[in-house]
Amino acid sequence: MYKLSMAYIEWTDSLSVGVELFNRQHRKLLDMVNEMYDALTSGKTNDVMEEILERLIDYTVEHFQSEEGYFKKYDYPLNKQHKQEHDSLVKDVLLLKEKFVNGDVTISYETMSFLQDWLQKHILESDMDYKAFFNGKGVY
Ligand SMILES: [Fe+2]
Ligand SMILES: [Fe+2]
Repeated sequence: MYKLSMAYIEWTDSLSVGVELFNRQHRKLLDMVNEMYDALTSGKTNDVMEEILERLIDYTVEHFQSEEGYFKKYDYPLNKQHKQEHDSLVKDVLLLKEKFVNGDVTISYETMSFLQDWLQKHILESDMDYKAFFNGKGVY
């Protein structure tokens, strides 16, 4: 299983989805979530938080497009449901950003654990499903 060391998400092989490009992108996403955690614990301003959150959202969208491009190219059978999950994840995080910008929510330990779950669950439950498929196509 994956390891949660207090609030940092550590990369371990159990998070590997078998495709180097996506592993690299996932690591970058984890780094951003950890960066936000750092910003929270060191009492950074809301502007800093917002900047990180925006970067996280942009990169998430970019990453989802990469995965979906591969799904199409290789005719991945779970393409449709996976894409739906991406769409709803983007919606969730855009909603979080909106609430944050409006001052309805602060970046707290609670929102951090939301972001961690949001990312890890998707990698472990849905992305992991394409591992055998892509590896079977010779894509690593
Ligand atoms: Fe995905
Ligand atoms: Fe992913």
